Amino acid sequence: PDYGTQIVDPYRLLEDDLNGIYEDIRSELERNTNQPELNTIATYYFDGQGKALRPMVAILMARAVNYHVYGENSALLPSQRQVAMISEMIHSASLIHDDVIDQSDFRRGKPSVNVLWNHKKVAMAGDFILAVASMMIARLRSDDVTLVLSQVVTDLVQGEFMQLGSKETENERFAHYLTKTYRKTASLIANSVKAVALLSGADESTCEVAFQYGRNLGLSFQLVDDLLDFVSSAQAMGKPTAADLKLGLATAPVLFACEKYPELNPMIMRRFQEAGDVQKAYELVHLSRGLEQTRFLARQHGAEAARLAQQLARSPYQRALQLTTDLVLNRIK
Ligand code: FPP
Ligand code: MG
Ligand code: MG
Repeated sequence: PDYGTQIVDPYRLLEDDLNGIYEDIRSELERNTNQPELNTIATYYFDGQGKALRPMVAILMARAVNYHVYGENSALLPSQRQVAMISEMIHSASLIHDDVIDQSDFRRGKPSVNVLWNHKKVAMAGDFILAVASMMIARLRSDDVTLVLSQVVTDLVQGEFMQLGSKETENERFAHYLTKTYRKTASLIANSVKAVALLSGADESTCEVAFQYGRNLGLSFQLVDDLLDFVSSAQAMGKPTAADLKLGLATAPVLFACEKYPELNPMIMRRFQEAGDVQKAYELVHLSRGLEQTRFLARQHGAEAARLAQQLARSPYQRALQLTTDLVLNRIK
């Protein structure tokens, strides 16, 4: 069959697999604590309102690789669905910590946990989710998968730490930004899809295709996120926008704008701390071609991901992996 001409909505395609995934995460958390409040905070974001992008991509890759290796009668392995859950749990744990660090008050269209509970409890709820995710990883009984998913947590912490520093020169700065972006966003997606490929028993080169697909999709995703921070609204995003400059962060749109407006350099170095910096930088980004250039780079990574997916056997899942790159690029939230 020619899957290329069919429109395959990845979320519809995986409806049965994704069905109940948040409930399953909630019950996993619940059965590991007898502290009602800890359970309430830890399960707060698993209400089904998220995009579930990470579980969706993990399951899509799992099915695409299983098809590639075993043909059309292959099934999703329970361990692969566990990885989809673990991926969303690590993600949410990091966001809970992130909202405390960023002093953000809104997430997934509702008040963030740090607004509703004190920071000590919130920090521990994030740790608890991560701890339960670690137990789930251990139960998979695969050293390779344990290593790959542990790398994610190492990367997340380092990516977040890198964000606290600024680099002097323009070249250093862009490289720093890209490494940071890989660590804080792309590593989770890349290593989750690598994990499901490993569980499938795929050969090394297929696992590498999966990893590179996830890396490129993740980079594209974060570039779009950094772009939307300048052009979208809090209402559309379900989280505050125009936030990065206020947090002192110079993301791709500003780094590109710097080429045309070098007066941004000192502002980047002082992390937009002087009165008027945030407003001025925001205006210069909009006057520059920085937003277009960011979208262009996001598109290149999306196209690279789609090209990599072509190396897998043709299937509805392979086709949906390719379409996912467009979903990420054209998303408005
Ligand atoms: C969101 O970025 C933050 C991340 C993607 C990673 C945060 C990682 C940590 C806090 C390290 C600790 C990790 C764990 C697993 C406990 P953002 O602030 O740019 O995006 P936002 O607009 O969604 O807040
Ligand atoms: Mg944040
Ligand atoms: Mg942050």
